[in-house]
Amino acid sequence: MDHKITELIRMRTAWRTYSGKIIEDHKVKLIESFIDNPETGPFGNSARFRFVGATESDFSSLKDLGTYGFIKGAKSFIIGAVKKNEKDLEDYGYLMERLILYLTDLGLATCWLGASFNKSSFAEKMDLSGDEVIPAVTPVGYRAEKRGAVDSLIRRAAGSKNRKKGDEIFFSEEFNIPLTQEEAGKYSLPLEMVRLAPSASNKQPWRIIKDKKGNVFHFYLRRTKGYYKEDNIFKMMDLQRIDMGIAMCHFELTANELGLKGKWKDTDPGIALPERTQYVVSWLC
Ligand SMILES: Cc1cc2nc3c(=O)[nH]c(=O)nc-3n(C[C@H](O)[C@H](O)[C@H](O)COP(=O)(O)O)c2cc1C
Repeated sequence: MDHKITELIRMRTAWRTYSGKIIEDHKVKLIESFIDNPETGPFGNSARFRFVGATESDFSSLKDLGTYGFIKGAKSFIIGAVKKNEKDLEDYGYLMERLILYLTDLGLATCWLGASFNKSSFAEKMDLSGDEVIPAVTPVGYRAEKRGAVDSLIRRAAGSKNRKKGDEIFFSEEFNIPLTQEEAGKYSLPLEMVRLAPSASNKQPWRIIKDKKGNVFHFYLRRTKGYYKEDNIFKMMDLQRIDMGIAMCHFELTANELGLKGKWKDTDPGIALPERTQYVVSWLC
């Protein structure tokens, strides 16, 4: 890649207004070879992705599915599918964010669009098997010179420019004790890259606790009140689990870039949890 991961994370932003310029063949080849090798996420689920041309029915699918994403001018999409399984959405978030950062490196714009796409025009292009789901897609292309009015409106409504402060999301030993820079140590940058991650409606549901004794970072999902209900009438996906996978991707890729060795492990420390909070995974340094 031409850029460092930390640069790509800082460069990426959700883009909903495209110039319509066709992506050059050599870039299409690079994208196709990137997605040709399906990789497995940290929880063992693999996802497959396709790069496809945009059709009129895709844009109406997006509106029907309430993706609040009024995408204009995009000529192509990336669609992905994952088999239903435990931690499938976390792995999907992790794998698709890696792809999005790669597209950013190629100078292309994207926008995570989360919904249940299984009955949409996108599903036909994926030849879905019965046990697969399409939890999110992204347009991919060159950004227009300026964001469209609706794009700007969505950004303002979601507060997309803003992020929570570190002391609201990173803790020491237990929730409510903010992690200091000194305690974060070499992991200050991987944590900062989590803080800058995109999340559905910019809700930023990730919480991380550093366990000093074991030199471990425990990742938690703090659900936004009323944001998701199982069996919702729209069959909406649990997008905040995708957000967790995106956060893991930023953390791990940044740690790798800094030469910090570690691995993901399911080792719940049993810390007292605030409401709507659940343990996801830990990074063992
Ligand atoms: C899992 C996920 C689903 C998203 N779904 C949508 C969507 O349906 N429509 C949309 O316009 N933006 C969607 N977004 C984009 C977020 O609104 C955006 O990432 C957030 O506001 C932060 O802005 P930024 O990406 O420019 O940093 C989604 C983002 C994520 C991570």
